[in-house]
Amino acid sequence: MSFTIVEPAPARLNRSELAVPGSRSELFEKAAKGNADVIFLDLEDAVGPDDKPQARKNVIEAINDIDWGDKTLSVRINGLDTHYMYRDVVDVIEQTNGRLDLIMIPKVGIPSDVYAVDMLVTQVEDAMGRDKRIGFELIIETALGMANVEANATASKRNESLHFGVADYAASTKARMTTIGGPNAIYGVLTDIDGDKPREYHWGDMWHFAISRMVVAARAAGLRPIDGPFGDFKDGDGYRAQANRAAALGCEGKWAIHPSQIDLGNEVNSPSEKEIAQAHRILEAMEQAQKDGQGAVSLDGRLIDIASIKQADVMVRKAAQIAAAG
Ligand code: COA
Ligand code: MG
Repeated sequence: MSFTIVEPAPARLNRSELAVPGSRSELFEKAAKGNADVIFLDLEDAVGPDDKPQARKNVIEAINDIDWGDKTLSVRINGLDTHYMYRDVVDVIEQTNGRLDLIMIPKVGIPSDVYAVDMLVTQVEDAMGRDKRIGFELIIETALGMANVEANATASKRNESLHFGVADYAASTKARMTTIGGPNAIYGVLTDIDGDKPREYHWGDMWHFAISRMVVAARAAGLRPIDGPFGDFKDGDGYRAQANRAAALGCEGKWAIHPSQIDLGNEVNSPSEKEIAQAHRILEAMEQAQKDGQGAVSLDGRLIDIASIKQADVMVRKAAQIAAAG
């Protein structure tokens, strides 16, 4: 281990995170009764400019009046380049009852963006005499935000998670694609010419680098990495495949932009019975190995060693966290 110990952000289940436009108050109760671990009420891009003030009022009312149970509740504020943002922060914190857990900051570019919001939130919380400190979710969705991702991740003690905002990221990097998330037919590998054999075309994952880079920055800062939206909400298989790819790289959750995606997100981001059983077998085998004075042994014909304990531990802890949440 490094001499530097990474302090983890407060532990929260974040397998699914439902986006709910602040302008559509008829959706709020449904969201609260659903299975999402986290809900974010959106004041940013799902709300048109004319609806911004009303959406803010709706969101304030909803935080105060709706029974959100044990869900983690977040509000996505407008970007720092708009004049909506200061009032989003001030009104939402001042006029609500302390139930809000997180603020989601979109299009974070540089650490000072996070610092500025931290200053504002701190002032309002202090003025209101609030003990509870609201945490931050940062969306990494611009070239600038990704170029500074490590610094952004450590910009505030309030930071809890980094989110990959695939659509804005594609726009910012001028990637050749117009869908929201998922694969891209032009991002593939054509196998070499080999005589008369037919050549194959294999689709690749064009988001691999970006998600992986964000995951490493998040984990190095003790934050949760979360994959963002998948726009084609009729394509459950496509959602599951994208969610699995992100989970394989270390993400622990994914957004849902429609209720049909919530259970898929929860399922993909929960270890299966089989994975949990195998993790316990590894821990037992390693306990025996250590009693026998060995650091590495074989289980089912495969090497397991001290690192395997840590991998298995991640699985077992996640299962315990899910079980504790009921
Ligand atoms: N939260 C809670 N409930 C939702 C919901 C959401 N985000 N999206 C849809 N629903 C409800 C609908 O009200 C409907 O309920 P009902 O069966 O009681 O009538 C049910 O789920 C099925 O909805 P459906 O008719 O298939 O969707 P829609 O056409 O009303 O809306 C979207 C589709 C994509 C516009 C909508 O899901 C949405 O706005 N999603 C969030 C978008 C967003 O926030 N984007 C920003 C982040 S990328
Ligand atoms: Mg965005």
